[in-house]
Amino acid sequence: MKRDLISLEDWTRFEITALFELAAKLKGNRTHLGGHLSGKSIGLVFQKPSNRTRVSFEVGVFHLGGNCLYLGPEEINLGVRESAADVAKTLSRYLDAIVARTFTHQDIVDLARYADIPVINGLSDKHHPCQALTDIFSIREKFGKTEGIIFAYVGDGNNNVCHSLLLGCAKMGIPMRVATPKSYEPDKEILNMAKSFAQETVGQIFLTHSPKEAVAGADVIYADVWVSMGQEKEAKKRLKDFKGFQINGALVAGAKKDFIFMHCLPAHRGQEVTSEVIDGEHSIVFDQAENRLHVQKAVMALLIEESRALKK
Ligand code: CP
Ligand code: NVA
Repeated sequence: MKRDLISLEDWTRFEITALFELAAKLKGNRTHLGGHLSGKSIGLVFQKPSNRTRVSFEVGVFHLGGNCLYLGPEEINLGVRESAADVAKTLSRYLDAIVARTFTHQDIVDLARYADIPVINGLSDKHHPCQALTDIFSIREKFGKTEGIIFAYVGDGNNNVCHSLLLGCAKMGIPMRVATPKSYEPDKEILNMAKSFAQETVGQIFLTHSPKEAVAGADVIYADVWVSMGQEKEAKKRLKDFKGFQINGALVAGAKKDFIFMHCLPAHRGQEVTSEVIDGEHSIVFDQAENRLHVQKAVMALLIEESRALKK
Protein backbone atom coordinates (compact mmCIF):
# COMPACT_ATOMS: atom_id res chain seq x y z
CA MET A 1 0.00 0.00 0.00
CA LYS A 2 1.27 3.48 -0.79
CA ARG A 3 2.22 5.82 2.02
CA ASP A 4 1.73 9.62 2.20
CA LEU A 5 3.04 12.46 4.33
CA ILE A 6 -0.08 14.55 4.96
CA SER A 7 0.45 15.47 8.60
CA LEU A 8 2.56 14.05 11.43
CA GLU A 9 -0.54 12.52 12.99
CA ASP A 10 0.04 9.12 11.44
CA TRP A 11 3.85 8.98 11.68
CA THR A 12 5.21 7.08 14.67
CA ARG A 13 8.18 8.08 16.78
CA PHE A 14 9.97 5.01 15.45
CA GLU A 15 9.39 6.02 11.82
CA ILE A 16 10.46 9.60 12.47
CA THR A 17 13.66 8.38 14.12
CA ALA A 18 14.41 6.08 11.15
CA LEU A 19 13.77 9.02 8.82
CA PHE A 20 16.22 11.21 10.79
CA GLU A 21 18.87 8.50 10.64
CA LEU A 22 18.55 8.25 6.88
CA ALA A 23 18.55 12.08 6.57
CA ALA A 24 21.79 12.27 8.59
CA LYS A 25 23.36 9.66 6.31
CA LEU A 26 22.23 11.62 3.24
CA LYS A 27 23.61 14.81 4.75
CA GLY A 28 26.98 13.14 5.37
CA ASN A 29 27.20 11.79 1.84
CA ARG A 30 25.43 13.67 -0.95
CA THR A 31 25.75 10.73 -3.33
CA HIS A 32 24.11 8.20 -0.97
CA LEU A 33 21.05 6.65 -2.73
CA GLY A 34 22.22 8.48 -5.87
CA GLY A 35 20.21 6.34 -8.31
CA HIS A 36 17.24 5.74 -6.03
CA LEU A 37 14.77 7.72 -8.12
CA SER A 38 16.29 6.78 -11.47
CA GLY A 39 13.52 6.54 -14.08
CA LYS A 40 11.03 8.16 -11.68
CA SER A 41 9.23 11.50 -11.95
CA ILE A 42 8.03 13.68 -9.09
CA GLY A 43 5.51 16.49 -9.66
CA LEU A 44 5.34 19.64 -7.53
CA VAL A 45 1.73 20.84 -7.60
CA PHE A 46 2.04 24.31 -6.03
CA GLN A 47 -0.73 26.88 -5.57
CA LYS A 48 1.42 29.28 -3.52
CA PRO A 49 4.92 30.74 -3.94
CA SER A 50 7.95 28.99 -2.45
CA ASN A 51 11.69 29.29 -2.17
CA ARG A 52 12.90 26.57 0.22
CA THR A 53 10.28 23.91 -0.43
CA ARG A 54 10.43 24.10 -4.20
CA VAL A 55 14.20 24.38 -4.52
CA SER A 56 15.02 21.74 -1.89
CA PHE A 57 12.60 19.23 -3.45
CA GLU A 58 13.85 19.91 -6.97
CA VAL A 59 17.50 19.61 -5.95
CA GLY A 60 16.69 16.56 -3.78
CA VAL A 61 15.06 14.76 -6.72
CA PHE A 62 18.12 15.63 -8.84
CA HIS A 63 20.49 14.18 -6.19
CA LEU A 64 18.44 10.96 -6.10
CA GLY A 65 18.61 10.60 -9.89
CA GLY A 66 14.96 11.40 -10.66
CA ASN A 67 13.08 13.88 -12.79
CA CYS A 68 11.11 16.79 -11.26
CA LEU A 69 8.24 18.76 -12.80
CA TYR A 70 7.08 22.07 -11.30
CA LEU A 71 3.34 22.52 -11.86
CA GLY A 72 2.41 26.00 -10.68
CA PRO A 73 -1.07 27.49 -10.35
CA GLU A 74 -1.12 28.42 -14.06
CA GLU A 75 -0.87 24.76 -15.06
CA ILE A 76 -3.05 22.79 -12.64
CA ASN A 77 -5.14 25.40 -10.81
CA LEU A 78 -6.35 22.76 -8.35
CA GLY A 79 -10.08 22.80 -7.64
CA VAL A 80 -10.76 25.53 -10.20
CA ARG A 81 -9.69 24.14 -13.56
CA GLU A 82 -10.04 20.55 -12.34
CA SER A 83 -11.03 18.76 -9.12
CA ALA A 84 -8.35 17.40 -6.78
CA ALA A 85 -9.69 13.89 -7.47
CA ASP A 86 -9.25 14.19 -11.25
CA VAL A 87 -5.82 15.78 -10.85
CA ALA A 88 -4.75 12.92 -8.53
CA LYS A 89 -6.05 10.20 -10.83
CA THR A 90 -4.44 11.77 -13.91
CA LEU A 91 -1.07 12.46 -12.32
CA SER A 92 -0.95 8.89 -10.94
CA ARG A 93 -0.75 7.68 -14.56
CA TYR A 94 2.42 9.75 -15.20
CA LEU A 95 4.23 10.37 -11.95
CA ASP A 96 5.74 8.39 -9.05
CA ALA A 97 4.94 10.95 -6.31
CA ILE A 98 3.27 14.33 -5.83
CA VAL A 99 4.44 17.14 -3.57
CA ALA A 100 1.53 19.56 -3.08
CA ARG A 101 1.36 23.09 -1.66
CA THR A 102 -2.25 24.25 -1.33
CA PHE A 103 -4.45 26.79 0.38
CA THR A 104 -6.96 24.29 1.78
CA HIS A 105 -5.70 21.27 3.67
CA GLN A 106 -8.65 19.27 2.33
CA ASP A 107 -7.15 19.53 -1.17
CA ILE A 108 -4.10 17.58 0.01
CA VAL A 109 -6.30 15.03 1.77
CA ASP A 110 -8.28 14.60 -1.47
CA LEU A 111 -5.15 14.33 -3.62
CA ALA A 112 -3.84 11.57 -1.33
CA ARG A 113 -7.19 9.80 -1.28
CA TYR A 114 -7.51 9.61 -5.06
CA ALA A 115 -3.83 9.18 -6.02
CA ASP A 116 -2.23 5.73 -6.34
CA ILE A 117 1.17 7.30 -5.64
CA PRO A 118 2.59 8.93 -2.47
CA VAL A 119 1.44 12.50 -1.78
CA ILE A 120 3.70 14.75 0.30
CA ASN A 121 2.30 17.87 1.94
CA GLY A 122 4.57 20.78 1.00
CA LEU A 123 2.40 23.18 3.11
CA SER A 124 -1.33 23.68 3.50
CA ASP A 125 -3.30 26.10 5.67
CA LYS A 126 -3.28 23.53 8.52
CA HIS A 127 0.02 21.63 8.35
CA HIS A 128 3.63 21.91 7.21
CA PRO A 129 5.04 18.48 8.12
CA CYS A 130 8.26 18.72 6.04
CA GLN A 131 9.13 21.90 7.94
CA ALA A 132 8.43 20.43 11.39
CA LEU A 133 10.33 17.21 10.64
CA THR A 134 13.30 19.31 9.52
CA ASP A 135 13.07 21.53 12.59
CA ILE A 136 13.10 18.57 14.95
CA PHE A 137 15.93 16.96 12.95
CA SER A 138 17.85 20.25 13.37
CA ILE A 139 17.22 20.27 17.13
CA ARG A 140 18.48 16.68 17.37
CA GLU A 141 21.55 17.68 15.38
CA LYS A 142 22.33 20.65 17.66
CA PHE A 143 21.55 19.05 21.04
CA GLY A 144 22.21 15.38 20.24
CA LYS A 145 18.71 14.46 21.46
CA THR A 146 15.11 15.63 21.38
CA GLU A 147 13.68 14.42 24.70
CA GLY A 148 13.33 17.16 27.27
CA ILE A 149 14.55 20.02 25.03
CA ILE A 150 12.37 22.98 26.04
CA PHE A 151 10.86 24.51 22.93
CA ALA A 152 9.15 27.92 22.95
CA TYR A 153 7.06 28.99 19.97
CA VAL A 154 6.04 32.66 19.99
CA GLY A 155 3.49 34.09 17.55
CA ASP A 156 0.58 32.68 15.55
CA GLY A 157 -0.48 29.42 17.23
CA ASN A 158 -3.22 28.77 14.71
CA ASN A 159 -1.01 28.22 11.68
CA ASN A 160 0.47 25.36 9.69
CA VAL A 161 3.98 25.51 11.19
CA CYS A 162 2.81 25.65 14.81
CA HIS A 163 0.33 22.79 14.25
CA SER A 164 2.95 20.51 12.73
CA LEU A 165 5.45 21.40 15.45
CA LEU A 166 2.86 20.57 18.12
CA LEU A 167 2.37 17.08 16.68
CA GLY A 168 6.07 16.50 16.00
CA CYS A 169 7.30 17.75 19.38
CA ALA A 170 4.67 15.68 21.20
CA LYS A 171 5.77 12.55 19.34
CA MET A 172 9.47 13.19 19.89
CA GLY A 173 9.23 14.05 23.60
CA ILE A 174 9.88 17.78 23.31
CA PRO A 175 8.04 19.95 25.87
CA MET A 176 6.49 22.76 23.82
CA ARG A 177 5.31 26.13 25.07
CA VAL A 178 3.19 28.26 22.76
CA ALA A 179 2.75 32.00 23.39
CA THR A 180 0.03 33.64 21.29
CA PRO A 181 -2.20 36.69 21.47
CA LYS A 182 -5.78 35.91 22.51
CA SER A 183 -7.77 34.21 19.71
CA TYR A 184 -4.62 33.03 17.91
CA GLU A 185 -4.36 29.79 19.90
CA PRO A 186 -3.81 26.50 18.03
CA ASP A 187 -6.70 24.63 16.44
CA LYS A 188 -8.47 22.70 19.26
CA GLU A 189 -8.61 19.38 17.44
CA ILE A 190 -4.90 19.43 16.58
CA LEU A 191 -4.02 20.61 20.09
CA ASN A 192 -5.96 17.76 21.71
CA MET A 193 -4.36 15.26 19.35
CA ALA A 194 -0.91 16.60 20.23
CA LYS A 195 -1.73 16.46 23.94
CA SER A 196 -2.71 12.81 23.63
CA PHE A 197 0.56 12.01 21.80
CA ALA A 198 2.53 13.90 24.47
CA GLN A 199 1.11 11.60 27.15
CA GLU A 200 3.13 8.76 25.62
CA THR A 201 6.43 10.70 25.75
CA VAL A 202 8.08 13.27 28.02
CA GLY A 203 6.55 15.97 25.81
CA GLN A 204 4.14 18.45 27.38
CA ILE A 205 2.16 21.30 25.90
CA PHE A 206 1.74 24.60 27.65
CA LEU A 207 -0.23 27.55 26.22
CA THR A 208 0.22 31.11 27.40
CA HIS A 209 -0.40 34.69 26.30
CA SER A 210 2.96 35.77 27.71
CA PRO A 211 6.03 35.45 25.43
CA LYS A 212 8.20 36.05 28.51
CA GLU A 213 6.69 33.10 30.32
CA ALA A 214 7.13 30.87 27.23
CA VAL A 215 10.83 31.63 26.71
CA ALA A 216 11.91 31.51 30.37
CA GLY A 217 14.68 28.88 30.52
CA ALA A 218 13.94 27.66 26.96
CA ASP A 219 16.51 25.81 24.82
CA VAL A 220 14.82 26.74 21.54
CA ILE A 221 12.93 29.88 20.55
CA TYR A 222 10.91 29.63 17.33
CA ALA A 223 9.20 32.28 15.21
CA ASP A 224 7.05 32.23 12.09
CA VAL A 225 5.48 35.10 10.17
CA TRP A 226 2.46 36.88 11.64
CA VAL A 227 0.67 36.91 8.28
CA SER A 228 0.73 33.57 6.49
CA MET A 229 0.24 33.14 2.75
CA GLY A 230 -3.45 33.60 1.98
CA GLN A 231 -4.04 35.92 4.99
CA GLU A 232 -2.84 39.11 3.29
CA LYS A 233 -6.22 40.82 3.72
CA GLU A 234 -5.89 40.51 7.50
CA ALA A 235 -2.38 41.97 7.54
CA LYS A 236 -3.23 45.31 9.16
CA LYS A 237 -5.18 43.73 12.04
CA ARG A 238 -2.63 40.99 12.55
CA LEU A 239 0.33 43.37 12.77
CA LYS A 240 -1.57 45.20 15.51
CA ASP A 241 -2.66 42.03 17.34
CA PHE A 242 0.86 40.58 17.38
CA LYS A 243 2.50 43.69 18.80
CA GLY A 244 4.34 42.52 21.92
CA PHE A 245 5.12 39.11 20.40
CA GLN A 246 8.34 40.15 18.69
CA ILE A 247 11.41 38.05 19.44
CA ASN A 248 14.06 40.60 20.37
CA GLY A 249 17.13 40.94 22.56
CA ALA A 250 15.13 41.70 25.71
CA LEU A 251 12.91 38.64 25.26
CA VAL A 252 15.67 36.12 24.49
CA ALA A 253 17.59 37.29 27.58
CA GLY A 254 15.19 35.05 29.56
CA ALA A 255 16.16 31.86 27.66
CA LYS A 256 18.99 29.44 28.49
CA LYS A 257 22.45 30.89 27.77
CA ASP A 258 23.07 28.49 24.88
CA PHE A 259 19.56 28.71 23.38
CA ILE A 260 19.04 28.47 19.64
CA PHE A 261 16.77 30.68 17.56
CA MET A 262 14.77 29.04 14.77
CA HIS A 263 12.51 30.36 12.02
CA CYS A 264 11.01 28.46 9.08
CA LEU A 265 11.61 31.51 6.81
CA PRO A 266 10.73 33.70 5.00
CA ALA A 267 11.28 36.17 7.85
CA HIS A 268 10.23 39.78 8.34
CA ARG A 269 12.94 41.56 10.29
CA GLY A 270 11.40 44.21 12.52
CA GLN A 271 8.10 42.30 12.80
CA GLU A 272 8.22 38.82 14.37
CA VAL A 273 11.98 39.01 14.97
CA THR A 274 14.69 41.65 15.12
CA SER A 275 17.82 41.52 12.93
CA GLU A 276 19.85 41.33 16.13
CA VAL A 277 18.30 37.93 16.92
CA ILE A 278 17.88 36.33 13.50
CA ASP A 279 21.34 37.42 12.33
CA GLY A 280 22.91 36.81 15.74
CA GLU A 281 25.12 33.98 17.02
CA HIS A 282 22.24 31.86 18.39
CA SER A 283 20.37 31.74 15.10
CA ILE A 284 20.40 28.46 13.12
CA VAL A 285 17.86 29.51 10.47
CA PHE A 286 20.06 28.69 7.46
CA ASP A 287 21.02 25.28 8.90
CA GLN A 288 17.28 24.66 9.12
CA ALA A 289 16.85 25.76 5.51
CA GLU A 290 19.67 23.44 4.41
CA ASN A 291 18.25 20.53 6.36
CA ARG A 292 15.01 20.73 4.38
CA LEU A 293 17.01 19.18 1.53
CA HIS A 294 18.37 16.24 3.53
CA VAL A 295 15.15 15.46 5.39
CA GLN A 296 12.99 15.64 2.26
CA LYS A 297 15.40 13.40 0.35
CA ALA A 298 14.88 10.87 3.14
CA VAL A 299 11.09 11.37 2.96
CA MET A 300 11.07 10.73 -0.79
CA ALA A 301 13.42 7.75 -0.53
CA LEU A 302 11.28 6.17 2.19
CA LEU A 303 7.91 6.85 0.64
CA ILE A 304 8.80 6.07 -2.92
CA GLU A 305 10.67 2.86 -2.23
CA GLU A 306 10.53 2.29 1.47
CA SER A 307 12.19 -1.10 1.77
CA ARG A 308 15.01 -0.38 -0.68
CA ALA A 309 16.06 2.77 1.20
CA LEU A 310 16.17 1.07 4.59
CA LYS A 311 18.28 -1.87 3.38
CA LYS A 312 21.10 0.30 1.96
N1 CP B 1 9.83 27.44 5.01
C1 CP B 1 9.28 27.29 3.79
O1 CP B 1 8.47 26.39 3.53
O2 CP B 1 9.73 28.18 2.87
P1 CP B 1 9.11 28.44 1.43
O3 CP B 1 7.71 28.97 1.63
O4 CP B 1 10.01 29.43 0.79
O5 CP B 1 9.05 27.14 0.69
N1 NVA C 1 3.01 30.11 8.13
C1 NVA C 1 3.74 30.47 6.94
C2 NVA C 1 4.82 29.49 6.68
C3 NVA C 1 5.69 29.78 5.48
C4 NVA C 1 6.73 28.73 5.24
C5 NVA C 1 2.79 30.55 5.75
O1 NVA C 1 1.92 29.68 5.64
O2 NVA C 1 2.90 31.46 4.96
